[in-house]
Amino acid sequence: MKMKPKIVPSILSADFGNLNTAVKSVQRAGCDWVHLDIMDGHFVPNISMGIPVVASLRKQTKLLFDTHLMISEPEKYLNAFIDAGADLVTVHIEVCPDIRKMIRVIQKKGVKAGVSLNPETPVDSVYPAIGYADLILVMSVHPGFGGQKFIKYSLDKLHKLRYQIDKQKAKTVLEIDGGINEQTIPQVVKSGADWLVIGSAIFEAKDIIRQIDKFRNMITKALK
Ligand code: DX5
Ligand code: ZN
Repeated sequence: MKMKPKIVPSILSADFGNLNTAVKSVQRAGCDWVHLDIMDGHFVPNISMGIPVVASLRKQTKLLFDTHLMISEPEKYLNAFIDAGADLVTVHIEVCPDIRKMIRVIQKKGVKAGVSLNPETPVDSVYPAIGYADLILVMSVHPGFGGQKFIKYSLDKLHKLRYQIDKQKAKTVLEIDGGINEQTIPQVVKSGADWLVIGSAIFEAKDIIRQIDKFRNMITKALK
């Protein structure tokens, strides 16, 4: 049976001076995963947090770390992120010529492997990862910044991936990231997303826990 879609908060829009508070709120809201956006200023035009931040957060929380590597040479840094406490490592298809090999390398290290694709990358480029990757992450904004507008044609990618995953009876989870909020939750849920990464719409809210609850109710409604 398909699991109810879940919310995976991205702390990219949290106060970086108080990340500990941010992860504690996510935990209190009952989430089991938190999304960590890693940017290298090369694959994307921004720099966020790195290995020492992941390691420090690891000491603060038992939340599982969904680590989104928006970096040009993921193979160079895999070990470091895994040692720092990543539970799932997502790499971008655009920088992984042999994606099945990359997935195997990550999984052999004892963590889950994810594969992400940028908005301009054709959806069928990640089909070879279905049934091999633990997760496929559809970027619904151009990676690099929180708070951007959802790119509508991402819904078509979700539909196609949902169809392929179900057809193959694969266990690969379908995640969507970028511009998810009150307006877009119903559409992405109806299009087949399993995990919804939400950054600014959670961390810019006055009450983070209430906001996550509200979004959960919207997911339930969208499934009816
Ligand atoms: C963007 C990141 C996202 C970001 C989403 O490059 O991959 O995870 O935090 O932020 P919102 O939800 O604000 O679009
Ligand atoms: Zn992300």
